[in-house]
Amino acid sequence: MADLSCNLGGIRSPNPFWLASGPPSNSGEQVARAFDQGWGGAVWKTVGEPIINTTSRYSSIDWNGQRMMGLNNIELISDRPIEENLREIREVKRRYPDQAVVVSLMVDSTRKAWHDIVKRTEDTGCDGLELNFGCPHGMSERGMGAAVGQVPEYTCQITAWVKEVARTPVIVKLTPNTSDVRYIARAAQKGGADAISLINTLNSITGIDLDTFVPRPNVGGMSTHGGYCGPAVKPIALNMVSSAALDPEFHIPISGIGGIATWRDAVEFILLGAGTVQVCTAVMHYGFRIIRDMLEGLEFYLEEKGFQSLNELRGRSLPHLTDWGNLDLNYRIVAKIDPETCIGCQLCYVACWDGAHQCIHLREDRRVPLIDEVECVGCNLCALVCPVEDCITMAQVPGPAGKMSWNALRSGRS
Ligand SMILES: Cc1cc2nc3c(=O)[nH]c(=O)nc-3n(C[C@H](O)[C@H](O)[C@H](O)COP(=O)(O)O)c2cc1C
Repeated sequence: MADLSCNLGGIRSPNPFWLASGPPSNSGEQVARAFDQGWGGAVWKTVGEPIINTTSRYSSIDWNGQRMMGLNNIELISDRPIEENLREIREVKRRYPDQAVVVSLMVDSTRKAWHDIVKRTEDTGCDGLELNFGCPHGMSERGMGAAVGQVPEYTCQITAWVKEVARTPVIVKLTPNTSDVRYIARAAQKGGADAISLINTLNSITGIDLDTFVPRPNVGGMSTHGGYCGPAVKPIALNMVSSAALDPEFHIPISGIGGIATWRDAVEFILLGAGTVQVCTAVMHYGFRIIRDMLEGLEFYLEEKGFQSLNELRGRSLPHLTDWGNLDLNYRIVAKIDPETCIGCQLCYVACWDGAHQCIHLREDRRVPLIDEVECVGCNLCALVCPVEDCITMAQVPGPAGKMSWNALRSGRS
């Protein structure tokens, strides 16, 4: 059996699956049930002040029969008193010594407020702290959350204040609502962070009621922008994790978050350099029980690949990422249609003709379209729109000899 245990900047857990800070980690009772089902760690729902919230709080995007493909929330931090949270954190840690109990914190941007909350929180015996510099709504207007996480100097300063007194490892949670997440990641590292986690939610408005004209969620006829998460944000999160992991100026561990619902999602984050992964929306949607499939799937995958531990998997995809300018311009693929499985829907023809490069043609006598392989630019669009799995595949064909990149062309090398 492969070893699933992790050590993220000094925080140990029996497996890489942690609850992300959010409604599923809002009480001791919930976190205990999650640990009983197999979760390796939990980042407690952000503890701090003020303790207020609105009804309603959530809205979502459904897509093609998939409920909550993207989830939006205007919820603030924990609506439970700090003392109550701290008491339950102490109790959970006592009962579950092996699981990682990390506490998410957000308080006023003063040194004293941070020193106080860090000391009170660490008195519970928790394993680490996560600084919430990412909340995009409500708190940012008060100079907290994303208001800190969007400015490298503030991120560095508050992290440094926390590190002045913290005895446990400190994770800085990053907002994706920034132009280049690497600057904030570097600022967290400069402030002394032991790890970063990303992503928090993306600014969003999920939709509008066309009869009342009120955007969702509706709070007494008014609305506000919220934070977007769930399966829709996974590609954005993967890109941000990889850009931090590939940054030569960045060296601390990463906890990956954003749209993770299956062991496959988790593997993708780990392949791009994540040491642990965190899950919120999928647990809100399907419950704690999804951990069983996640653990079983990850174990099976590692065994199948012959890996003894997660360390052997971490970052394996990073060498396959490069700047666009380094890609091989001589690599050529063209589309092939399998006449046996083609249903003659002609979606590929329409997509290619109207939306791409006009190299798929209709033949009067046959239902299967014809690909002009000389003209085909290998863009993949026909394979992407084809409703029949593996009916259109992309096949490599001989291109010009050798490799040629844009960067090589510009510098006069071949
Ligand atoms: C309803 C809701 C409440 C959240 N509350 C917090 C919070 O208190 N602190 C925090 O750091 N992140 C919070 N998040 C963000 C999640 O921890 C996570 O970063 C984000 O949802 C992306 O992960 P996911 O796609 O698995 O949901 C919240 C997310 C949701 C949906």
